[in-house]
Amino acid sequence: MNDPDGFSRRQLLTLAAGMSAVFTFDSVLAGNTPPPVTGATHMQTRPIPSSAEPLPMVGLGTYRGFDVAPADPAYKLLPAVLSGLFAKGGTVIDSSPMYGRAEQTTGELLSIHEPRSPAFLATKVWTRGREEGIAQMEQSFKLLQTDRIDLMQIHNLLDWKTHLPTLREWKAQGRIRYIGITHYTASAYDEVEAVLKAEPLDFLQINYALDDRGVEKRILPLCRERGVAVLCNRPFGGGGLLGRLQGKPLPGWAAQVQVNSWAQLALKFLLAHPAVTCVIPGTGNPKYMLDNAGAGFGPMLTDAQRQQLIALVG
Ligand SMILES: NC(=O)c1ccc[n+]([C@@H]2O[C@H](COP(=O)([O-])OP(=O)(O)OC[C@H]3O[C@@H](n4cnc5c(N)ncnc54)[C@H](OP(=O)(O)O)[C@@H]3O)[C@@H](O)[C@H]2O)c1
Repeated sequence: MNDPDGFSRRQLLTLAAGMSAVFTFDSVLAGNTPPPVTGATHMQTRPIPSSAEPLPMVGLGTYRGFDVAPADPAYKLLPAVLSGLFAKGGTVIDSSPMYGRAEQTTGELLSIHEPRSPAFLATKVWTRGREEGIAQMEQSFKLLQTDRIDLMQIHNLLDWKTHLPTLREWKAQGRIRYIGITHYTASAYDEVEAVLKAEPLDFLQINYALDDRGVEKRILPLCRERGVAVLCNRPFGGGGLLGRLQGKPLPGWAAQVQVNSWAQLALKFLLAHPAVTCVIPGTGNPKYMLDNAGAGFGPMLTDAQRQQLIALVG
């Protein structure tokens, strides 16, 4: 949804215009939001290595949270999730045809967001066969109600050799802007590594969390070497990490790094890694969205602070 040749101006305009809607939603949530972040109003960005385009460092995952039908009471909370993301300067929204109704819900809600949202839309192809892949991706364009998808990823590397030529063709035509692969489990790292070495890619989306650090060994250094942007999925291990940390006091230095929750610390732990471009925690909860976006503000963690957190989770 972003023009490669007019990104900054257009994005700034849409972000600025979107703020009024944002504060309407925020006011509904009055008393339910984390304390405002002082200083900057827009989160920090990281450059996408293949283009140098700045990408806001905290995004939104739609697995489960956006797999919701309009009749469900949870659906009414989702506009505030998107507004919370945009209000803090976030843009990245990650979905997949694997996530039930999530693409459709995202498309519906973005289409009523006036003016057109600044979303950086990432979705995936998750099927076997060239024609099946094309049909599924065409359906994603319809469901997301867009004529351009920012990032198309091959979900869990499923039939990647078949889909990659289609993705390259569509990138050349401008239908998609970036190409990536995804996975979520350590058992796939050998294959992920082999594809990263063999193919030029813009993005890798991979599991990385404070208590799930296997990618630090070979995958993240390889992404740096190859100039591949990294999106961290399952940054809370699907939620289990935060359950383990719940009730523990935050470290004494938390305020110094502008952190007021374990969720923010867990995300800042990932963002301190130089290979990481953006984290995409999943939520359908506006309060959690604002909390997570807070990780994109203030100082990043030092190595000593990261080591303390590792010692805490074992
Ligand atoms: N193979 C792949 O390509 C792949 C695999 C897995 C995930 N992904 C992507 O990565 C995204 C993130 O992974 P995930 O959603 O599986 O797991 P996750 O982000 O690690 O955890 C999501 C869970 O954390 C909770 N949560 C979120 N923010 C919170 C906060 N501030 N405080 C307390 N709890 C909070 C959510 O609760 P609520 O649900 O109540 O909001 C949800 O239960 C997915 O949504 C998806 O877009 C991709």
